[in-house]
Amino acid sequence: MDFPTINPKAQQFDAEVLSNKRVGSYNHMVFSVDEIASYARPGNFVAISVGGPGTSMILRRAFAIYRATVKPDGQGLLELVIAPFGNGSTWLANRQIGDLVNMVAPLGTAFGIPTEPVRALLVGGGYGSAPLFALAEVLKSRGCRVDMVLGASSAAKIYAPLEGKRSVSSLTITTDDGSAGTHGRVSDVIPAIIASSNIEIIYSCGPMAMLSAITNISKERGIMHQCSVEEAMACGIGVCMTCVLPIEGEDGVVRMTRTCIDGPVMDGSKVTWTKSREIPDGVWGK
Ligand SMILES: Cc1cc2nc3c(=O)[nH]c(=O)nc-3n(C[C@H](O)[C@H](O)[C@H](O)COP(=O)(O)OP(=O)(O)OC[C@H]3O[C@@H](n4cnc5c(N)ncnc54)[C@H](O)[C@@H]3O)c2cc1C
Ligand code: FES
Repeated sequence: MDFPTINPKAQQFDAEVLSNKRVGSYNHMVFSVDEIASYARPGNFVAISVGGPGTSMILRRAFAIYRATVKPDGQGLLELVIAPFGNGSTWLANRQIGDLVNMVAPLGTAFGIPTEPVRALLVGGGYGSAPLFALAEVLKSRGCRVDMVLGASSAAKIYAPLEGKRSVSSLTITTDDGSAGTHGRVSDVIPAIIASSNIEIIYSCGPMAMLSAITNISKERGIMHQCSVEEAMACGIGVCMTCVLPIEGEDGVVRMTRTCIDGPVMDGSKVTWTKSREIPDGVWGK
C-alpha cells in the first residue's frame, strides 16, 4: 500500500493581497505569489494562517483555489472566493490591498482529467463553484462538452462570474428560495441534464449532503463522480487527523482516510456518506 504524502509542490510563503472585491455574498481575492501558481491544478486548495500575530486562531483555514495564472512577466496570481463565515474567514475577507497573508499551497489532490473528450457535468454548491470554472477551462481545452449546475440557498450565494459562464455549454442555476433560476436543489435538475446531454462524468464541489445526493444519482446510472469533499480541516497537511472520512480503498477495505492529502478530490462511490461524524460500523480498526 502506498502512503500518501503532502502535495510535493507545496510551499509556505507570504502572499500580498492585490485585489479584494465583494461579489454577492463573497469576496473575490487575488494574491501575488511566485512560481507555485504554475503548479496549482483545479481541485487543489490553500491553507491560510488567519488572525495575525498574537491571535488565538492557531489553525489554518482551507480555501479552494479558484484560479491560478502566471503573467507574461513571471508573476504568479492565486485567486480565491471567500465566504465570510466565522472569525477566520471574516478576518481574511477584511484584508486590504498590500497586506501580507501566510499561505501553504498548493495542497491536496486535483480533479482527474480524462484523456479522451467526454461529456462532463460540473456541479457546485455555494462557494463550491470556486474550483469548477478553472476545471471547465481545462476540460474545454481537451475537447470536452461541459454543462454546469450551480445551486445555493439564495441568488446572492451563487458565484457565477460572467467569464465563467462563457466557458460552459449550459449553465443551470437552482436556489432553495427560488430567488434565481429553478426553485429547488441541484439534485432536482441533474437527472434531466444527465439524460439530455448524455453525461459521462460528474465533477462536484459543495456541502457534504449535496455530494452524497449526487453520489446516489451517479451510482444509479453508473456514471463516474469525482467530488471535492469539504470535511473540517485543522492542519491541511496530514498531521492532525481532523479531516478523516470513511473511504473504501482499492483493496475493498473502508478506512478513515485523511481528505487533506488523499483528497479533497475523491471518487464519490468510495465514500461512506454519514450524517454525523461517527465512525460507521465495518470501518477498519473499529
Ligand atoms: C478543502 C476545502 C476547501 C474550502 N474552500 C473554501 C472556499 O473556496 N471558500 C470558502 O469561503 N470556504 C472554503 N472552505 C471552508 C473554509 O475552510 C471554512 O469556511 C473556514 O475554515 C471557516 O473558518 P472560520 O474561522 O471563518 O470559521 P470557524 O468556524 O470559526 O473556524 C473553523 C475552523 O476551525 C477548525 N475546526 C472546525 N471544526 C473542527 C474540529 N472538529 N476539530 C478541529 N478543528 C476544527 C478548522 O480549522 C476550521 O477551518 C473550504 C474548506 C475545505 C476543507
Ligand atoms: S487536516 Fe490535519 S490531517 Fe487533514
